Amino acid sequence: MLDLHCHILPGIDDGAADWETSLKMARAAADDGITGIVATPHHANGRYDNEAASVRALTAELNERLREEGIPVTVYSGQEIRVHRDFLSSLESGRLLTVADTRYILIEMPASEVPKDMYELVYELRLLGMRPIIAHPERNAGIVRVPRQLRELVEAGAYAQVTSHSLLGAFGRGIEKAAWSLCRQGLIHFVANDAHHPVQRGFRLNEAYKQIGATFGEEWASMYKRNARMLLHDEEVQSGELPVAGTAASGWQRIRRWFGHRH
Ligand SMILES: [Fe+2]
Repeated sequence: MLDLHCHILPGIDDGAADWETSLKMARAAADDGITGIVATPHHANGRYDNEAASVRALTAELNERLREEGIPVTVYSGQEIRVHRDFLSSLESGRLLTVADTRYILIEMPASEVPKDMYELVYELRLLGMRPIIAHPERNAGIVRVPRQLRELVEAGAYAQVTSHSLLGAFGRGIEKAAWSLCRQGLIHFVANDAHHPVQRGFRLNEAYKQIGATFGEEWASMYKRNARMLLHDEEVQSGELPVAGTAASGWQRIRRWFGHRH
């Protein structure tokens, strides 16, 4: 399994504090069945900037240490980039890292609302051939209030990543409900841990996939897992067509259409 959102690099943001913790996190990830992790330290969030070159260097060093320790996990470079005014110029000047050097790029919105220029940013990124992934929309108060805002972003070409801990209730009932609802509406393309620590906010991806399988059926969980693999190969993920708003069964119909009525 691939985990595309993780704060595993040591001492550079609010994730792993030191190398020992990074290695503990990698071991916990391996125990959860994860073989690949994208290191996505915060960038431009007002507290952390983690420039591309330093993230790459730490990623290489972590992979070296993982080999030495015999931990069967590969780490890829990335950033969790806060929406900010200089986003496009930073991208152009090579200050930003995409997810594992693909065209996918992980974007974080402020927790309180959807920024006014978010739609324009998604549009511009698509014009540049990029594939913007919105990190944990279920934790954005604006989207929880008006989920249509995420639909509009997805229709503009964005992808969305839900956090395993949200689905499993670790952020409270409201976020849990929103997470499942966004999945059900076909607005989520990826599930990731967004782990910050080996235990608290650790690795529960397997558990989340199991829960998704139990709730929506195994095909649905398989789709998310496959999407993560396809992302790593820089392929377009197949989340199927968006359901028609207002039809309760549309999520199912969409999935069944996508599987070509094989069953
Ligand atoms: Fe994160």
